[in-house]
This record gives sequence, structure tokens and C-alpha cells, in this order.
Amino acid sequence: MENNVRPSSLARITSVELANKFIDEQIKEVKAQVGDKKVLLALSGGVDSSVVAALLIKAIGKNVVCVHVNHGLLRKGEPEQVVEVFSNQLDANLVYVDACDRFLSKLENVSEPEQKRKIIGAEFIRVFEEEARKLEGIEFLAQGTIYPDILESGPVKAHHNVGGLPDDLQFELVEPLKFLYKDEVRVVGKALGLPDAMVYRQPFPGPGLGVRCLGAITRDRLEAVRESDAILREEFAKNGLEGKVWQYFTVVPDFKSVGVKDDMRTYAYPVIIRAVNTVDAMTATVENVPFELLQHITKRITTEVKNVNRVLFDLTPKPSGTIEWE
Ligand code: XMP
Repeated sequence: MENNVRPSSLARITSVELANKFIDEQIKEVKAQVGDKKVLLALSGGVDSSVVAALLIKAIGKNVVCVHVNHGLLRKGEPEQVVEVFSNQLDANLVYVDACDRFLSKLENVSEPEQKRKIIGAEFIRVFEEEARKLEGIEFLAQGTIYPDILESGPVKAHHNVGGLPDDLQFELVEPLKFLYKDEVRVVGKALGLPDAMVYRQPFPGPGLGVRCLGAITRDRLEAVRESDAILREEFAKNGLEGKVWQYFTVVPDFKSVGVKDDMRTYAYPVIIRAVNTVDAMTATVENVPFELLQHITKRITTEVKNVNRVLFDLTPKPSGTIEWE
């Protein structure tokens, strides 16, 4: 327990200089811990796992094996960005697993939200386990655990810990960020040269778009969530809302409504826009998005996204709504 308390000697990392000092110390510690052995890391592309990956690549190069599982529920462009940054730019030892079909077939006809989460979590461990078994001589598992995960203070559910691996696949843990707060992790990521889009990414749940494609996931609605989310993100970035709003995304429910397009009757899905601000995710307020911008986004979504004929804006704070819809 004792080594799970942030050491008083660790100053708050608020500048690139302090981040560089932290990085140098961690490189020494990681080298001392793992020597020339191999380390496995589940790299989701989120802030924490990306910063751990970049740090370990700096410390031990190709001895960290980064496994990126694309479960088909990531946002538009995310798997490509992981490959671009880690494989192309940082020359990482990256294993990219395209598990989209596998996840989607497991999720077919499953509509209960917690059941969906369980399936996604369990399948992730199974895919990761299979990859781990293919690799020889791995003794360590790196994780993007951060201090709030240890303190268990927030309702933001940790998704980067690959708990649940079978007994014969237990590794010694490498957790270089375990005493850092999120803002410090971002400063370290910046100092490591990771792109802003990765370092300042808004929170994204482990089950990904799976909990934003409501009810039983279908490919057409999943595509509508992914494409509308990409338009929303693009427009928020263009209009100065990207760093300002805490979390924003789209949701596609599992019902259709009647509409009209080119004088023809349509029967298609609505897209719901959610944009909220919060400090700790326990309560949240709704961002006052300019109406003209909402109208512009509506126009783009209804013309560019297939199978969609309406756009709604969620006005509900938390409580009574939660941030996610499932
Ligand atoms: P709610 O919907 O409970 O969300 O108001 C609070 C915060 O937690 C995120 N969230 C999750 N994160 N796995 C995660 O890793 C999950 O299953 C999950 N469910 C919600 C949500 O995006 C928000 O930031």
C-alpha cells in the first residue's frame, strides 16, 4: 500500500522542464526494473497509454511491444493515428490487431448496456491474451495507471488496465505514471513530443462508440455515430470549442423517424449531439453551443451522413441525465 502513495519529493509537473526531469528519472527507473527484458503494453491511443508508450519507447526502444486492438468502436481516424504516430514517427514495435468483425459479431443482438460493456471488456482481454501468447519472452506488462485510478476517486471508469488475464499470463507491472494527475500526464506527453490531438484528447470511454450506438449495435448505425462524431469534432475544432468543452459527442438511438429528402419520404435515424462541462464527471452542465453553429452542424450531418434525417441537441445536465446515454 505504501508504494501507492505519491512521494512528497515528486513536485507537481507544471512545465516542460519539470516533465523532462520526470522523464529522465523514469527512464532510469524503467531500465533498472526491466533491464533488457521485453515489456507488453495495450496501446489504446488514449492519453495515458500513449504517454506510457512514448516514455517506454524512449527508455527501452523496441523492447516495448505495443499492442493496439482496433475493436471497431474507435472514433474516425484513431487507429490510423496510432499507426502513424507510433509506427511511422516513433518507430515503435507495434502490433496492430484488426478485431472489428470479431467484436461486432460478439455484440450482435445484444442490447443491454452493461452486457455490451462486459462483452467488449472480455473480448478485449481475449484478443490481448492471444497476442501476448504469440510473443516470446515477455515478463512485464506496462499500464497507463494514473494517480486517480489508484485513489479510485472518480466515476470515470478506468479502462486501460488489462486485469483479468489468466494465471499463467501474469506479468510484473510497469506503471511509470501511477503518481501523476491527468494534467501532469498531458505535460509529460507534450514534452515527449506527442501530437496535441493525442495529448489533449477529450475523455473517451473504454467501450467507445459501442455505448453511443444505442441498443443492439448495427453496422449502419455505428457508421452514423462515427461519421457524425467526426463532423461534430471537426466543427468544434474550427469554431474554438475543442479545448473549451470537456466532452462532446454524438449518439444514435435505435429507432427511426419519418423525414423528407428530394421530395421523397425517408425513414431514418436521428443523431443526438451532447456537449458537457464538468470538473469530476459526477455532475455536468450543458455547453451553450451557438445556435448558428448547431444549425450548420445539423445541415452537414443530415446531408453527409447516411441513414440520418434529424439532429437533436441534448439539453440535459447531470443529474438527471448521465453524460453517456448508456
Ligand atoms: P456517465 O455517463 O456515467 O459518465 O455520466 C461519466 C464519465 O465516464 C465515462 N464513461 C466510461 N468510461 N468506461 C469508461 O472507460 C465506461 O464504461 C464508461 N461509461 C462512462 C463517460 O464518457 C464520462 O466521461
